[in-house]
Parts: sequence; structure tokens; C-alpha cells
Amino acid sequence: MMIGNYPATRLRRTRAASWSRALHRETALSPADLIWPLFVTAGSGVEEPIASLPGVARWSVDGIVARAREAVALGIPVVALFPNTPRELRSADGAEALNPDNLMCRAIRAIKDACGEALGVLTDVALDPYTSHGQDGLVDAAGYVINDETVAVLVDQAMNQAAAGADIIAPSDMMDGRIGAIRRALEMGGHVNVQIMSYAAKYASAFYGPFREAVGSGGLLKGDKKTYQMDPANAEEALREVALDLAEGADSVMVKPGLAYLDIVQRVKARFAVPVFAYQVSGEYAMIEAAAAAGAGERDALVLETLLAFKRAGASGVLTYHAAHAARLMGA
Ligand code: PBG
Repeated sequence: MMIGNYPATRLRRTRAASWSRALHRETALSPADLIWPLFVTAGSGVEEPIASLPGVARWSVDGIVARAREAVALGIPVVALFPNTPRELRSADGAEALNPDNLMCRAIRAIKDACGEALGVLTDVALDPYTSHGQDGLVDAAGYVINDETVAVLVDQAMNQAAAGADIIAPSDMMDGRIGAIRRALEMGGHVNVQIMSYAAKYASAFYGPFREAVGSGGLLKGDKKTYQMDPANAEEALREVALDLAEGADSVMVKPGLAYLDIVQRVKARFAVPVFAYQVSGEYAMIEAAAAAGAGERDALVLETLLAFKRAGASGVLTYHAAHAARLMGA
């Protein structure tokens, strides 16, 4: 790279006017970069605010359909669904995940009926919204999440979602081997165009607290998820996770959480040149809202700057609870 010397080269020259800043901007953010996570709850006409996620609510299926139509109007291409399973339907084996009429499947069908091809539906594969212990898989007597038995259930969960019309299956459980097992089942079941977005590099993070309140698993969970989610200290291991999931048939991969892991986004993009998505998780959303409420930053600017940072790092798109607000700020 040729770098000239001052004053022949003055990098402030191209920053001097807004037209020039627009011309030289390297990264662009658009509503099409966003995936909007939505929380589904039982009943009808229900909107339940989530205390630790100010501005985010759980919606019953009718409200979810209204949000889905809103997403289409705003140019957001995909919504991601998470159920708040009623307490009495949670069990040690998370069997409600396999019910073809569970909240998730009802929401998928209602959205696909209302929006068709205009909106993609991404569904989370993991058992935590369905288990009485709040872990993402089946546990043995010692409380350890058992891998292979869990994968078998996750395959059935994914097939249940695909049958209901899910467009993108997103396993967030971090079991070994689940991408290949789910891909094989989808192929054999005729769902050849159902995508898999793997939560490939998902860390055992302190940023998931508000999400666990939203899906009602927080109060149930004892201990942590460190025997399956990744150690925040590790980056090389993230590359191995991504390599395996791609080899097993993932169409795209995700890094989660987001802002604190932009180095992982960048390294995955540089190494594999595949679609990489980042999840700006619940605790990150809450931090931005808290900072804005405390007067420590301007909300809209914080939202757009953080989302742009994901794009700059190489992300194809971002899952964010700010999706609708951000799309509006972009003039959608
Ligand atoms: C569940 C799941 C979690 C999130 C997405 N899917 C929580 C967890 O692993 O405990 C977190 C999302 C967020 O915090 O916004 N497997």
C-alpha cells in the first residue's frame, strides 16, 4: 500500500463535506442486513413487556403475525422465533419441542400464511425453552448434558419446524455433530431447500440474561452451560467449530454474542469466505438501552453505529432486537 506524506496526503480532505463522506463510505447498512428475533407466547391478543429488555415484548401468535407484516413493510428479510413455553408444558425431556402444534409451529404456519415468500422464518433448535431444567439438551443423573441422545431429539425438533414451514433451521445448542444429523434428516425428508444457519461459535456468555427471562428459562436453569457453549477465551476453537459445521452442511454460520466477538466474525470471514451472521444478543441490547436511558449516549446513534460495526467486520447480517427501530432509522 502506498501512503503519501503530509501535506500532499491529508486524510481529512475526503472527510470535509458530507457528500464526500458519502462517496468514500466503505460499508453500508440496510434493512436487508437485519434479522429480527421475536418472542412468542400463548393466548391471543397478548403483549407482555420483558422487564430486562425495555421496548421488547412477547406476543401471542396474532401479534407475531402483525410484527411479521411490519418486518415485510420495513424491508427486513427474516424473523427469528423463540417460544415462551407455558410452564406446565415443560418437562425433563423437552418433549413439547416435538409437538406439531406447539407455539413455535403455530407461529411459523401463521407467518407463512400471512407473508409467504416475502419473509423468511428462522427457528431456533435447542431444548431450553421446553425443558424443566433450562438446559439446551437432555441431562444425565449428574446434570451433564448428554450429546448424542440430545442430537437425536434435536433432529426431530428440526424436522417438526421444517414440516411447519420453517425456512432456516438455526441450531443454537452447541452439541457436536448436530448439523450433519439435521442436514441428513432434512435431505431424506425432502426439505432440500430448507437452510441451516448454524450457531457455530456460540460462547458461554454473561450477555444472555434478558433472553432467559424472555423465554422463561432463567429461573429454571441451575448452573451454567459451560460444558457445551464455548469458553470466551478461545478463538482458534471457534474456527474449528465453523469448519466442522460447514463440512456437515451448514449454509451459513453465526457468531454469538456480537460486539465482544467481532474478532471472531472477522477471522471466520477471512478464513472461510462464507456467509457469517452475528447475534447482537439480549444483554447487548439491554446495555445500549441502559446507556441511552442514563444519558451516556444517544440511542439512535448507538444502535446504528454498533450495527454498522458488524458489517465492517465482515458480517452478512445481524440478529438484533433493534431491527425494526434500526430499519426505520434507515428510512425504511
Ligand atoms: C438458547 C438460546 C439462547 C440465546 C439464543 N438461543 C440463550 C442461551 O444459550 O442460554 C440467547 C439470545 C440472546 O441473549 O439474545 N439455546
